[in-house]
Amino acid sequence: MKKLPFRAFLLFGALAAATSASRILPGGTSSMVKRHEEWMAQYGKGYRNAAEKAQRFEMFKSNMEHIERFNARKREYWLGRNQFTDLTNEEFNDIYLSGYKCSTSSRATPRNFRYENVSVSATNLDWRSKGAVTSIKDQGQCGACWAFSTVAATEGINQIKNGKLISLSEQELIDCDVNGQNHGCNGGLMDYAFQFIIDNGGINTEINYPYKAADGSCNSNKESNSAVKITGFEDVPSNSEASLLKAVSIQPVSVALDGGDPNFQHYAGGIFTGPCDTKLDHAVTAIGYGINTDGTKYWLLKNSWGTSWGDHGYIMMQRDIDAAHGTDHEKAVIAGFPSIWSIGCCHFGIPHSTWRDIIDGETP
Ligand SMILES: *[C@@H]1O[C@H](CO)[C@@H](O)[C@H](O)[C@H]1NC(C)=O
Repeated sequence: MKKLPFRAFLLFGALAAATSASRILPGGTSSMVKRHEEWMAQYGKGYRNAAEKAQRFEMFKSNMEHIERFNARKREYWLGRNQFTDLTNEEFNDIYLSGYKCSTSSRATPRNFRYENVSVSATNLDWRSKGAVTSIKDQGQCGACWAFSTVAATEGINQIKNGKLISLSEQELIDCDVNGQNHGCNGGLMDYAFQFIIDNGGINTEINYPYKAADGSCNSNKESNSAVKITGFEDVPSNSEASLLKAVSIQPVSVALDGGDPNFQHYAGGIFTGPCDTKLDHAVTAIGYGINTDGTKYWLLKNSWGTSWGDHGYIMMQRDIDAAHGTDHEKAVIAGFPSIWSIGCCHFGIPHSTWRDIIDGETP
């Protein structure tokens, strides 16, 4: 992750600096100034000085204007204020979408897909209601989405197999999975992290090895204390939402997507229909699916940006795009969207959605 100069004033405190800065702003913006002040208080934001505050205000204003223009059009989804409202989209990309690194090494073609013969009859599934999803976590300004995605999928399969929902340690992956191709707050991949958990004989709990939102040295005592084990992992066939559906019907699945668009930055609810690109830069966890009242199908995804972002930390994203959209125009608008599910490394189009299956020494 780039160390940008404004990181400092994204930290807590310094609210005192706020009042003086607002006086220098043009009078016509006073209601927006008030909303910025409220927003700062709500998210505990502070700025180093009046000049910085004025600069951030302009970004906040521009984002709020975009949000309001978008929401006025009554779409399938809506936007809102969150902790990212004073960031340009470029800054947002630099800080929050640096955590998913495509691999350049080639991988074996997946063997038979374990769930290929699963038939999915339910139209809706939400693993939260089955107790397989821990509360929304917040990665902060550390590019470790890959660790959160890995952990959420592992927490899910552990609950499904063993009946216990145990919150697990992202920090262990950040600190200890450092001898391969994962790089803590500078990014990584779920497949390597699953392999690390296997090789390490398990992973510790969140409580015992808590999150610090920063790289650290590996605590080998904690590393050797495993609460949950996995024995393997497998990729979902690429470019196949049908395969992903089968996998998600059995367990939460790690997936990667493109979160770079301003509408993703400001997403607040509803079924997100893009824009999206095939440039995969963020990892999340698929924890369900459904169909809304007007027939739009969606994936239910767990993010790791706290509960202020999105729908209390979650997002619904449109699924079965090709079936749902027939016209050329619509295809153009959503071009590339379905391929988020084929993640794989950008370079090879290798499948990406990784799912965990067996726990505690069971064999596949
Ligand atoms: C799915 O069913 C086919 C046909 O019965 C079978 O050959 C194949 O091995 C099955 N796949 C799995 C993963 O069980």
